[in-house]
Amino acid sequence: MKLANRVQRVGESATLAVSRQAKELRASGIDVIDFSAGEPDFDSPPSAVEAACKALREGKTRYTAATGLPELRHAVAADYNQRYGAPWSGDNVVITVGGKAALFELALATVGVGDEVVIPLPYWVTFPEQVRLAGGDPVFVETSVDDGFRLRADAVCSRLSERTRVVILNSPSNPTGRLIERGDLEQIVERCAERGILVIADETYDRFVFGDEPFASAAPLAHRFGDVVVVVGSFSKTYAMTGWRIGYMLGPPDVVRAVGTIQSHATSNPTTFAMYGALAALGEAESRVEEMLRAYRGRRALIERLLADLPGVRCAAPVGAFYVFPEVSECYRDGRQGSVEFSRFLLEKARVAVVPGIAFGCDDHIRISFACSEERLQTGLDRIRDAIL
Ligand SMILES: Cc1ncc(COP(=O)(O)O)c(C=O)c1O
Repeated sequence: MKLANRVQRVGESATLAVSRQAKELRASGIDVIDFSAGEPDFDSPPSAVEAACKALREGKTRYTAATGLPELRHAVAADYNQRYGAPWSGDNVVITVGGKAALFELALATVGVGDEVVIPLPYWVTFPEQVRLAGGDPVFVETSVDDGFRLRADAVCSRLSERTRVVILNSPSNPTGRLIERGDLEQIVERCAERGILVIADETYDRFVFGDEPFASAAPLAHRFGDVVVVVGSFSKTYAMTGWRIGYMLGPPDVVRAVGTIQSHATSNPTTFAMYGALAALGEAESRVEEMLRAYRGRRALIERLLADLPGVRCAAPVGAFYVFPEVSECYRDGRQGSVEFSRFLLEKARVAVVPGIAFGCDDHIRISFACSEERLQTGLDRIRDAIL
């Protein structure tokens, strides 16, 4: 059986691969501390669970429009208008099977063979792979730990070419936790608008911002640059609803139409009763989001302290999301050279699962998720310390 060429262009998601390995070790009775998963350790809001169960009991088990439940589309738009002063209505929204499907459908809708998509590096593992699956070529803009992983507008603009169709931004960033500064964001969007290049702002972690620096969403820029600004978001992290698979995109009508059409042939609507649960979360679970934010803030302070104590490890403080992305290359030795070997070494010797930085384009780093209890963080970092000393 000959598989399609496009399969040769992508690899398995490294984050899911490490999680799988960690789960296998756990299943064989070994106590592994798993810092690899990008998944909140909180329960989904009871109001969402109740609303989904109620929807099921009431027989809300049929197809909806491919773009999703109209009430939820409207509620998502209203939420962005209220929080960020965005100009959108429900007609500007497509509800998708997680943020991942929104991004994939956007890639299919906007990127053709040979088109370029500019992506900051380090990047979330899935961005370049989706671009490749769509036939396009990712073009990376490097940021560095020495500059706190700041994404500078000039660096992005210098990579725009005749072939650029899309720029993908991710703030707060997975894996660095860095935010894009408002000035840089505005400059990037302005320059892209001049050239008819779409800006997809993945703001999946927008509710988890810890520092004094305010989060700059791309949403209000849609007032001036409505033709090119798209925002992607998700219920997965905001409401600890990863398995529900509900995300969304907001953007211009032609993009909404194209994504809706693709979705109508790919998944049809996202699961109907899950959308009712998401609707309840949006309306009733704000206090849970704030509770999670408080917990992440405490964990972030703890892990920053613990990392500062590790010899040979250098880390820019994250100001958003729930990851740290320390540079660990000074800990590399024979047999644990590069982020893949080093991560395997940590799994085997310390029984701690992390994601190799190479998955995000940086082989000198590893990614640690702090979506776990402070006690697990303390134990895991103690184990790493013992293993590398
Ligand atoms: C940056 C980023 N965008 C999008 C997603 C998609 O999440 P989901 O498909 O669960 O909504 C993730 C998940 O890890 C992510 O880290």
